Amino acid sequence: MQNPQQAVSRTPSIADRNWSQTALTDRLGIRYPLIQAPMAGGPGTPQLVAAVSYAGGLGVLAGSDLQPEALRRAIAEVRALTDRPFAINLAAGGPAKIDPTRIARARELLAPYRSALGLSPDPLVPPELPEFEQQLDVVLESGVAAASFIFGVPDPVYLDLLREAGIATLGTATHLLEAIVLEESGVDFVIAQGAEAGGHRGTFVGHPEQGLVGTLTLVPLLAKHLKVPIVAAGGIMDGRGIAAARLLGAAGVQMGTAFLTTPESGAHPAYKALLQQGSEIATTLSRAFTGRHGRVLRNRLSDELRAHEAELPGFPLQLFLTQDLRQAAAEQGLTDFMPLWAGQGCHLCEDRPAAELIAAWVEQVEELLGMREPPEPTIGAAEWITQGLPPEALEALENPEARESPEDPDARATPESIGFTQQPA
Ligand SMILES: Cc1cc2nc3c(=O)[nH]c(=O)nc-3n(C[C@H](O)[C@H](O)[C@H](O)COP(=O)(O)O)c2cc1C
Repeated sequence: MQNPQQAVSRTPSIADRNWSQTALTDRLGIRYPLIQAPMAGGPGTPQLVAAVSYAGGLGVLAGSDLQPEALRRAIAEVRALTDRPFAINLAAGGPAKIDPTRIARARELLAPYRSALGLSPDPLVPPELPEFEQQLDVVLESGVAAASFIFGVPDPVYLDLLREAGIATLGTATHLLEAIVLEESGVDFVIAQGAEAGGHRGTFVGHPEQGLVGTLTLVPLLAKHLKVPIVAAGGIMDGRGIAAARLLGAAGVQMGTAFLTTPESGAHPAYKALLQQGSEIATTLSRAFTGRHGRVLRNRLSDELRAHEAELPGFPLQLFLTQDLRQAAAEQGLTDFMPLWAGQGCHLCEDRPAAELIAAWVEQVEELLGMREPPEPTIGAAEWITQGLPPEALEALENPEARESPEDPDARATPESIGFTQQPA
């Protein structure tokens, strides 16, 4: 049996090296080992991607539901804002089979919500699905720093093309078997997506239930068995999470939920407000919005369709069937019908610009790892304890003699003085 000392000494020593210099920063030419998670469906704006890259992390554009032309435009927008490295994320799994019975059932189930939102009973005719190969062509011609994938493994031929173009590749795994499949197919980095993560589950081998491994377990497990570097994702909300991920053996982190409430995020204001009030038990897994399981804040749609989830079509058909419903919900500010993607750490979300958050997290990591002195307290300990106390309480603390004398019998509390009256027997 391995002794715990050996296990510890095998994790990369971050005390010897600067914590922020890892295989990830070396390969991508970024300052901090911090990736902003791709966030499809609105939150992951080009402004957010550019802000994170500008601040020294790696911004990632979510491209999975974009037609090639829209993807090209989004890339150009990021380029207009920053010349720092950024990445593009695509869905590698391939679209679900078109199943007319499931589509009809989804229409039936969604009809009452459409009517509540003032929409016609029939959803928009699903538009043509974007072709993965065409999206990949855009990535190749764009010459971005990296391409990340979720829902599966891209064909090794594509991985070779990306490698030849100098584009680093990252694949998403939710358990060890998927991580091994990704490594064998030749990706440069594996993103370990823990169960806490907000948004879609990346599970592509087995049922999503089997891919619900917590980040604290998944990261050291993958770091132990894989040769390629690991990026930790799921529940990382600040410098404490980043430091913990590095100590667990990750070469970097990918954070999504923590960026949702930044001013650069395209999340709806009503959704942003709910995130900060949210909690770990307020989240659940639902496939009602897109046809794939993802972690959301519970709302009316996720709760009411829960019992029918198995009857719905797969990704991205269900995504297109809910398209105008989601749009109408956003226009009317009705969070009951919005996909409120959220990780279990959402209660730690802060409404601060992305660059400010990154700078604060970096400081926190460096303090935690003993590389920087903690800031001087702005007030003394005694001052802190007494701050906000009413003047009488302060006087009583400073001058114990002056406290109300219990010797005065009138000052003593009696059952009657506190409103207790004995009932006659
Ligand atoms: C709003 C939102 C949208 C997401 N969309 C994508 C996506 O398009 N592609 C992807 O690979 N991951 C997506 N994810 C998952 C993230 O890549 C990542 O696993 C997750 O955000 C990490 O957990 P955290 O949210 O607790 O930081 C999304 C996450 C959120 C919160």
